[in-house]
Amino acid sequence: MALKLNTKYAEGFVTKAQETALLAEAKTAAAKLDAGDCLGNDFIGWRTLPTTYDKEEFTRIKAAAKRIRETSQVLVVIGIGGSYLGARAAIEFLGGRFYNDFADLKVYFVGNSISPEELSAVLRLCEGKDVSVNVISKSGTTTEPAIAFRVFKKYMETRYGKAEAAKRIYATTDKARGTLKELSTREGYETFVVPDDVGGRYSVLTAVGLLPIAAAGFDIDRLMQGAQAGQKKFDAADENDSNRYAAIRNALYRGGKKTELYVSFDPAFTMFNEWLKQLYGESEGKDGKGIFPASVIFSTDLHSMGQYIQDGERTVYETFVSFGTARDDVTVEKTAEDFDGLNYLAGKTLSQVNATAMQATILAHVDGGVPCMVLELDAMDEENLGELIYFFEHSCAVSGALLGVNPFNQPGVEAYKKNMFRLLGKPGY
Ligand code: PA5
Repeated sequence: MALKLNTKYAEGFVTKAQETALLAEAKTAAAKLDAGDCLGNDFIGWRTLPTTYDKEEFTRIKAAAKRIRETSQVLVVIGIGGSYLGARAAIEFLGGRFYNDFADLKVYFVGNSISPEELSAVLRLCEGKDVSVNVISKSGTTTEPAIAFRVFKKYMETRYGKAEAAKRIYATTDKARGTLKELSTREGYETFVVPDDVGGRYSVLTAVGLLPIAAAGFDIDRLMQGAQAGQKKFDAADENDSNRYAAIRNALYRGGKKTELYVSFDPAFTMFNEWLKQLYGESEGKDGKGIFPASVIFSTDLHSMGQYIQDGERTVYETFVSFGTARDDVTVEKTAEDFDGLNYLAGKTLSQVNATAMQATILAHVDGGVPCMVLELDAMDEENLGELIYFFEHSCAVSGALLGVNPFNQPGVEAYKKNMFRLLGKPGY
């Protein structure tokens, strides 16, 4: 297992002097992070989570996941933003986009929008199946998941009675404060903790991500091992790939490349892209600054966004994430009549064709003025995922410092809430 950053396709866009200067800044930022001498330093608990995580709670998470799998065919996960994206990204990364179609335990995510259609659809999907619920909210007061939980609490109690419903509801929230914590204590739900010093978008390696991931049947021991490997490699003030990535993306940004496109050639990465967009967008987009994070899945989006990337405004750079071996491969077979003219591909696997498509895309985009970086992973498994998560969390913290922002707060998220509360007539607004 080894994550490697290949920056050769960005070289023509950043001078050696710029790279050296930014790398020196990145190393200083990493050292300050290590010393706790950075903006937002009360939210850097994620840094050591892979080694210092609560082992007693970890055992309880695995036991709860086992119980959910034994007693249910559906797990409804209620949460939004950092209390949602990491778990879904991990499950789709590890199980593919059709995970639920193959799984004995279906995992449905609600409370991540206010769509009545989605909530009603998931209620319908629960019909005739045994259900458990994991409600996740650090604050315990976020409107979207609170609405969904109000609906599902009633559903569970009507269906199972109060006592049995309480055994099937798991709450992940603050260890002491908030409405959800108070309710859980009163109702007797098993609770898991979002640590004080870990913000929502950095919480996937806490119970926030770990319970749904384990319940979906994935190996969270191996996930944490991968994250430990990441911590060992990247949590240092040296020229490691995390610091290099932060340095180069900031060099590109200062040179006018304001948009970063996260790219994968595997649709199983779609939700990981969404997790990345939250991690970087919410961490960096403030004080009038920030690289705009966007995403595409190729080759799908080469047929929609490819034109713009190749030929549109030259403010974009790309970060590709590639994987070595495929979990399941398909080989192109030879046909006697060669009716579609594809015999030139006979004997090749789709992994080989996909890798070649990626190579061809990178060369075309670099020619078109789009710098590219490539993160190379061995496989789409738990260890690689853990290391990848840690890599991006660490480089995001360092990158935020290079931008001169606090990467751990999100003051801008409050603006819509205030208006919504006022318009809906919430007392006090
Ligand atoms: O990263 C963040 O802090 C946010 O995206 C939160 O995770 C999101 O707003 C949900 O908050 P909470 O877990 O308090 O319901």
